Amino acid sequence: MSGLKLFRYVAWAAVAVLAVVSGVLVYKQTVGNENSGALIEPLASIGGPFELVSGTGETVTDQTFAGKPTVMFFGFTFCPDVCPTTLSELQGWMEVLGDDAAKLNYAFVTVDPERDTPDVMRDYVWAFDKRITPLTGSKEQVDAMIKAYRVYAKKVPLDDGDYTMDHSASVYLMNADNKFVGTIAYGEAEETALKKLQRLIATAPASS
Ligand code: NI
Repeated sequence: MSGLKLFRYVAWAAVAVLAVVSGVLVYKQTVGNENSGALIEPLASIGGPFELVSGTGETVTDQTFAGKPTVMFFGFTFCPDVCPTTLSELQGWMEVLGDDAAKLNYAFVTVDPERDTPDVMRDYVWAFDKRITPLTGSKEQVDAMIKAYRVYAKKVPLDDGDYTMDHSASVYLMNADNKFVGTIAYGEAEETALKKLQRLIATAPASS
């Protein structure tokens, strides 16, 4: 093995280990805290700056959401079950939170920017709730977001020549500094989900 080959091998191994560690962290948040409703200490390795496009074609960055914690979910509008179910549950949680719902940002980020244009995203997401920001962008912008947020997303060809997307189903909870503090798992009990959202609101700076 040449020096360069060895270097490449070690670099790829490091990337693989990092990916596995992040995956385990997300998984632990998803499964480990399922019943406690607890959040974790802010984790800087998941998240970070992003630049995407809203359903009305405006640029949205992490700075747009600064000052308020954010509830973030990744999916696509052609999703047969997980995404519509989650959006509908999210809408239900917002109803229960009442006035407190305004203390959080909500975003649905597509992992399928090819089909999910701003118009498609707006029509789909706002059919659930207009307080949820639809986010899409160029393939490069979305790929960068998926990477930074350690989201699993994979294009899967269908027999008819069309395609679907495999994607992680957890709802991400980010604090007002845009640091990862936990997840709500797909199908998690409403009571636990609401506990987490209330704790997320409590992490916000007093002024907001
Ligand atoms: Ni989905």
